[in-house]
Amino acid sequence: MPGQHLTDKNLALDLVRVTEAGALAAAHFFGRGDKEEADGAAVSAMRIAFQSVHVRGTVVIGEGEKDNAPMLYNGEKVGFGDGPEVDIAVDPIEATNAVAYGRPNSVSVIGAVEKGGMFNPGHSFYCKKLVVGKDAADVIDLDAPTKVNMQKIAKAKGKPISELNVFVLDKPRHVGLIQELRLTGVRVHLHSDGDVAGAIMAADPRCSMDVLIGIGGTPEAVITACALKGSGAQMLTRLTPLSIEEQKSLDEDGIDYSIVRGVDDLVTTDRCYFAATGISAGEVLRGVEYHGEYAVTSSIATRGRTGTIRYIQAWHDRKKLSTMSTVRY
Ligand code: FBP
Repeated sequence: MPGQHLTDKNLALDLVRVTEAGALAAAHFFGRGDKEEADGAAVSAMRIAFQSVHVRGTVVIGEGEKDNAPMLYNGEKVGFGDGPEVDIAVDPIEATNAVAYGRPNSVSVIGAVEKGGMFNPGHSFYCKKLVVGKDAADVIDLDAPTKVNMQKIAKAKGKPISELNVFVLDKPRHVGLIQELRLTGVRVHLHSDGDVAGAIMAADPRCSMDVLIGIGGTPEAVITACALKGSGAQMLTRLTPLSIEEQKSLDEDGIDYSIVRGVDDLVTTDRCYFAATGISAGEVLRGVEYHGEYAVTSSIATRGRTGTIRYIQAWHDRKKLSTMSTVRY
């Protein structure tokens, strides 16, 4: 049975090779100001690498609709075509601007969940997010005032509120939120992009970041849920349409956007696997680095059933790999 197969196998370890391929391909375009070229290279590399993964995968969250995305589009079948059936969320470059403009926190990511176990964001582009690690998972409330959440998180973490590090996307929509946060006395870290990396930092006890708060992408929230599943960390979300069109689409789809969804609502089975490889450096993952003949990648692989997090550094012999593949290493 496909389910039994997934129970025994840590698919995340196979997926790491796919995110490594995406990151290696994207890294050549770091700081060159061209998002499209970087994304195209990462997509092609990942699609090739996916062929060696023994799953029958369907992309649920991908590069958009088939007409607009030649590869890794929603509905596309990926994997070798044998093995368990899984739903795939893939972002060849999460934070494309960060790659193009030389900023931190860009990653190549994949979440894979047993078929039917992943929330499909449909036409929802944005949602509100509040992310904390295991130590504060039980005290957060998406509807509580910002000050109350920050006070409770600081208490749960056993530190003064003035030492709480909070990741916020630096967007005009967050002007009010940033003011509220600053009034509480927390340390606000503003980032132009990359709330998947931000959420992983907030959830990871090794990192100095304690909280992620604000409105970011809904697909990114589902990908984040794959990363946090089984870790005990929590992310509370609520779909938050930012335009009339988005709201209309959700209404037409009959989607209730008053509901608060946590990690277990976004990923309903613990047969969930996540892999990410850093493209540009952040607090959790280093970016792709070049050392002579080698390109060095830094990745994480997590598994929902056990909550294990693996940190994987790989030294890729660029010459050998280039003879084996069309991807530029
Ligand atoms: P991309 O990978 O599409 O570049 O997204 C980057 C990102 O910063 C995400 O991390 C975040 O969830 C989303 O964009 C926020 O969207 P917007 O930039 O439209 O506010």
